[in-house]
Amino acid sequence: MKPDDVQKINDKSADMYDESVGEHRYHPEFISGLCYEYIKQGDRLLDIGIGTGLASINFARMGLRVHGIDHSEKMMDLCRSKGFADELKVHDLNDIPFPYPDRYFDHVITSGVLQFFGELDPIFKEVARMIKPDGIFAFVLREQAVTEGVGEEDLRPDSYVSHMTHYGIRAFMHGDEYIRNLMRSNGITGLKELRFLLWSGLEGLSDFNFKAYIARKSQ
Ligand SMILES: C[S@@+](CC[C@H](N)C(=O)[O-])C[C@H]1O[C@@H](n2cnc3c(N)ncnc32)[C@H](O)[C@@H]1O
Repeated sequence: MKPDDVQKINDKSADMYDESVGEHRYHPEFISGLCYEYIKQGDRLLDIGIGTGLASINFARMGLRVHGIDHSEKMMDLCRSKGFADELKVHDLNDIPFPYPDRYFDHVITSGVLQFFGELDPIFKEVARMIKPDGIFAFVLREQAVTEGVGEEDLRPDSYVSHMTHYGIRAFMHGDEYIRNLMRSNGITGLKELRFLLWSGLEGLSDFNFKAYIARKSQ
């Protein structure tokens, strides 16, 4: 699927997004709790694929300056209407570099986005470039698991596998070893990991296995 098509799907589902996240029993705001001891008032944070802002609104409530980037203007209009973000930029994450200077952000987060990408190295390299030394990178991704269209024999701990979801978007699941290597090669050290399940939203369809990482960029 072309990036433009994915953007259209995201634009189309924007109005329903906050409601549908609830249906999956997902609560993106949990990330702020996991980061609490590493952040402080006035820090500048980038939310990659900010959408309607569910993952970063609590950071703003804690006094951080929140910036967001996303390719869906509709999602960001909804985010803007919540009035907490300092700056929102329309940008396709496939276009490298992202429109920010080196070492511009104290912290970077991304939730519900990395499962739309197979190869994550370009995004991790951009995070490593934009974030200040000792800054926190908090990210959420889909872990590899047997699911519709993916059998035990397809799993690749040192790589990623994908399947077509019932809502028509290809989703990627990343192996633990792949992520560890990616972090190491980009100077990012893990601090916390949290596994969780998201309800697929349909009876009889497997839950989605997700994992949150809280990590730190080294000097
Ligand atoms: C599932 S939503 C997650 C939104 C928010 N981060 C959250 O946790 O609720 C995925 C977001 O990623 C954005 N996105 C997906 N692919 C993208 C791309 N190639 N470039 C920019 N944004 C993208 C979508 O527009 C959407 O806002």
